[in-house]
Amino acid sequence: MSEVRFPDDFVFGAATSAYQIEGAWNEAGKGRSIWDTFSQTPGNVWNDISGDVAVDHYHRWREDIALMKEIGLDSYRFSLSWSRLLPEGTGRVNEEGVAFYSRLIDGLLEAGISPNVTLYHWDLPQALQDRGGWANRDIVDWFAEYAALVFDRFGDRVARWVTINEPIALWVGYGLGIFAPGIADERVGKQAMHHAMLAHGRAVEAFRASSAIGEIGIVLDIWARHPATDSPADRDLAVRDEDDGFRFFLDELFTGRPSARIVERLTASGIMPAILPGDERVVTAPIDFLGLNVYSRVVVSAEDYNPRWWEAADSHPGGNYLTNGMEYYPTALTDAVTMVKDDYGVTLPLFITENGISLPADAVVDGAVHDPERIDYLAGFLAEAGRAVAAGADIRGFYVWSLLDNYEWSASLSERYGLIHVDHSTQARTMKDSARWYADVIRNGRVAER
Ligand code: FCB
Repeated sequence: MSEVRFPDDFVFGAATSAYQIEGAWNEAGKGRSIWDTFSQTPGNVWNDISGDVAVDHYHRWREDIALMKEIGLDSYRFSLSWSRLLPEGTGRVNEEGVAFYSRLIDGLLEAGISPNVTLYHWDLPQALQDRGGWANRDIVDWFAEYAALVFDRFGDRVARWVTINEPIALWVGYGLGIFAPGIADERVGKQAMHHAMLAHGRAVEAFRASSAIGEIGIVLDIWARHPATDSPADRDLAVRDEDDGFRFFLDELFTGRPSARIVERLTASGIMPAILPGDERVVTAPIDFLGLNVYSRVVVSAEDYNPRWWEAADSHPGGNYLTNGMEYYPTALTDAVTMVKDDYGVTLPLFITENGISLPADAVVDGAVHDPERIDYLAGFLAEAGRAVAAGADIRGFYVWSLLDNYEWSASLSERYGLIHVDHSTQARTMKDSARWYADVIRNGRVAER
């Protein structure tokens, strides 16, 4: 059993997102979002359970902050609901929504927990979807307006901002149709991906133009694709999957445009998005850090390739499709860190903005939740991060997904990623063993691999 120490200023955190925890979907002036519409439409999510209530964080945020404090988190990563702040997406501000996030931020600061705030974690205002959503290039202006509002109202108190969480979700929502808004049009999906990168760049510009303190970055979902065999078919598939999954975004961020290889293939299949003169400058707006969500790798095999994997009978697509079988592979973290450095020359500070595991069977027995598999999993990834830091990687922090069991997108309430168990009928919160273990890791600044 090896022990890994972290630098004193290493940030230990946990993450959530607005739609997955808040509930109160139509309370206190909040406008409808595309996830409200999608999850309320029969046939879209597991057991047709919508996220109307989720885990009721909107009403229980004080208790949730107290739990974070008990764990000893340095930082809490959460997202803002755009339609809680701007019910129609643009224009009229919902002051009750502003007050909610203001109280939350102040409560965190009082508890000594640094807020790490994401502007967009997939819950687009429905009013903007009605105008085309991410398929309409006007979204770039809409997002810039929203960003300016957020920096104006909260910019004096937030140390770290994330523009967009995992822009690949737009492909899943507009290209594949398995996330909101449920559109399955590959060309539209690719266009939405490019618009997301433009919106990101404009938000960074809005941040620089504001008087906000703190730093800004973006979060990408990086799962290295490894070919199952050395065959050319497997190797080609690995390259293609990485291009589709995350290189499109890295290319735009760090070189201004998708690589020639991507352009060639998307053009040949008639799904190349329109990229206009000047876009290159916007998408490369300099950021302060890069967030990486890393859960595992994907081993790809041309022979077993099922491009429509989510239609398999036993799959309920969640954010990271873990129900489709995930391998325990902590080296994925170093793979991601090395790849952004070697392939894109990234020397920015890095954060592991999400890492965690769903254990759907987690249950409260005699007041406790025993989840040794989560402890093993997190210990392995944390140790990997600590070793990478010792070897010179500039990883500044690590956020567990998730603080609480929550609403896992199309998989609804069927997954449990939390350090804290939530009883979905009573909303009662119970610390899992992993939460107590994480508290020790944070207190001691070191992790023992198990
Ligand atoms: C990530 C998402 C997050 C959650 C986890 C399991 O891709 O950002 O919302 O779904 O996966």
